[in-house]
Amino acid sequence: MANVYPVFRRCLLHHRTQAYLGAVGHGYCREFKHDSTHQTEGNGQKRRYLMYTAVITTTTLASICINHYVEGRKKCLQIESPVETEHAGQYKKSLPVYTLEDVAEHATKNDRIWVTYGQGVYDITDFVEEHPGGDKILMAAGGSLEPFWLLYAVHKNPHVFALLEQFRIGNLKEDESSDILSNMEDPYELEPRRHPALKPASVKPFNAEPPLQLLVDSFITPSDLFYVRNHLPVPEVDPETYSLEITGVGVKTIFLSLHDIKTKFPKYTVTAAVQCAGNRRSEMSEVKPVKGLSWGPAAIGNATWSGARLYDVLKAAGLEEDHPGVEHVQFEGLDTDAANLPYGASIPIEKAMNRKAEVILAYEINGEPLPRDHGYPIRVIAPGIVGARSVKWLGRIVVTGGNSSNSHPSNSNAM
Ligand code: HEM
Repeated sequence: MANVYPVFRRCLLHHRTQAYLGAVGHGYCREFKHDSTHQTEGNGQKRRYLMYTAVITTTTLASICINHYVEGRKKCLQIESPVETEHAGQYKKSLPVYTLEDVAEHATKNDRIWVTYGQGVYDITDFVEEHPGGDKILMAAGGSLEPFWLLYAVHKNPHVFALLEQFRIGNLKEDESSDILSNMEDPYELEPRRHPALKPASVKPFNAEPPLQLLVDSFITPSDLFYVRNHLPVPEVDPETYSLEITGVGVKTIFLSLHDIKTKFPKYTVTAAVQCAGNRRSEMSEVKPVKGLSWGPAAIGNATWSGARLYDVLKAAGLEEDHPGVEHVQFEGLDTDAANLPYGASIPIEKAMNRKAEVILAYEINGEPLPRDHGYPIRVIAPGIVGARSVKWLGRIVVTGGNSSNSHPSNSNAM
């Protein structure tokens, strides 16, 4: 049970999600049964029963955790008023002026932790423990927040600015703050082109969904209208040098090129819906405020995915079904954060090694190579599990005795 909370911190499923799946298109309900060119027939009833049981259990657990999460966040953030939002980082006459050198002297708890934003100087010592993004905040200790907030643009929001201003202690010397800005490069400079109809929930990182009318136009969602959920800039991967590492407990470490994955393993095709855990969060927020991207009802899509079966790849690395102590399979993406940590998530070994579960390492969507936004050249597709586990730009698979150790706060996705 200890591991359930981290999972559902991100699983803010709405009670009505299932009703939506039923109402908007029966197709989406059917999707979760997914179907494949290698599927055995005849146990549809049993699968349907298991699926409904899983959905009811999931939504019940999710509702418990939503309460837990919302209460926890409220306590943590304690934003009393939206004061100062528009003045974040602006010069304030009443406060003392500091230099970058002064700020750099405050980089540890003992010396107090100071940071700058624009022309603002802030003492964030008492907030560090409360930070929803964990101790990553310490990377900015004694320096500027700007380079990090370029990467984690979730901060460029009124509620974060209001929170920041509560820690304001001074101003940065004017010429020094403009020096910081002139030295910065945008990590999102090389993002792919996107369909103009996609409606962004955030631009950097890019998170967007299609208009509902377009989504329900077709049973199979066109790849350029498929919702996009990115946590970081989209990595640029060279297919010629791409290499997937498979390592961990019970396997011999192997590396597979894109060519290996395409030619050494049978190609499976699975039709499966993928849904973001935050789908319909904006409606949930109308009932009670919830932190996180404000998704509408279209952070879900249904596609035909083709690739090598995870089971076959793990077998090729020598993993046996009954290997003692093996519990999870972790996936790491090639998208990395400021600390060079990849996005990651895990699935239970029973799912990974279940030939009928049809977890695949996909290189195609709807018969075409994956677009960059959807994980080019290889992504996981784990049918029937929340989209966060279908890790994109897959770089490493680790077979472990425990959960995903990935510490990116967006990645508390271990199952
Ligand atoms: C005083 C400075 C900071 C404040 C007030 C702050 C505040 C916050 C808040 C309120 C959130 C939750 C946002 C939401 O869910 O709407 C958040 C998330 C986060 N923060 Fe910060 N933050 C600060 C500095 C930093 C720094 C310097 C870093 C990185 C070096 C960082 C990394 C993150 C990450 C990775 C998340 C999670 C984003 C996600 O869930 O996708 N934060 N921060």
